[in-house]
Amino acid sequence: MSGKIVILTGAGLSAESGLGTFRDAGGLWEQYRLQDIATPEAFARDPETVQAFYNARRQQAAKAEPNAAHKALAELQQAWPDRVVLVTQNVDGLLEKAGAQPIHMHGQLDQALCGVCDHRWPAPMEMSAQEPCPECGAPAGRPDVVWFGEYPYHLEDIGEHIQDCEVFVAIGTSGQVYPAAGFVQEARLFGARTVEINLESTDVSGTFDVHRLGPASATVPAWVSEILSRGV
Ligand code: APR
Repeated sequence: MSGKIVILTGAGLSAESGLGTFRDAGGLWEQYRLQDIATPEAFARDPETVQAFYNARRQQAAKAEPNAAHKALAELQQAWPDRVVLVTQNVDGLLEKAGAQPIHMHGQLDQALCGVCDHRWPAPMEMSAQEPCPECGAPAGRPDVVWFGEYPYHLEDIGEHIQDCEVFVAIGTSGQVYPAAGFVQEARLFGARTVEINLESTDVSGTFDVHRLGPASATVPAWVSEILSRGV
């Protein structure tokens, strides 16, 4: 067997690196109302609050270290670069720090995006409410993260990888945010075996063939070493 392995990761992957998830008890969306923080309307209304939220997350992510799960996924991708596609919803950059090359469908905290000319540049640690674009000068710099109501990035490429995959794996994601939550059904339609790796069962566990329950830092390295020794 030598088919593609598409791995979708979510906030649970970085939980043991000290970064909070969104929907677990005490998660970010219990502390903030997502409509006040993670929508284009919120940014238009109150850019200072939105920038402050992402500045804090950027600083936290910059200090965080990849855990054993990020490292195992990097090792897997390096072992089979033509087979392993990592798709992440995480904006924290920890997969890259571990040496992996993920597709960022929800953007990256360390990038800034101009709301006027679409120019991208490395985000300063502290973005201001009216962050100037270095290209066009408009005071319209925003974090290059995908907000609710916006289209995730690279969906066409991701769709092609999913249609072509032998195994689809979801790690540390609650399966509540579309379109990522629908990837598993699409992979099944195209004949993939589907694996869910999560701390606990999710609302979408029923759509997966195989389940591995437990903390990612233990379950992911174990799964990676199994498939490396089995060949899939
Ligand atoms: N190991 C494995 N899984 C874990 C761990 C852990 N140590 N800790 C938590 N989890 C699991 C939880 O059980 C939950 O299913 O991670 C999942 C986290 O779910 P969410 O907080 O909903 O995060 P995610 O699925 O990545 O959210 C998707 O929502 O707000 C948006 O844009 C944001 O990309 C994010 C998207």
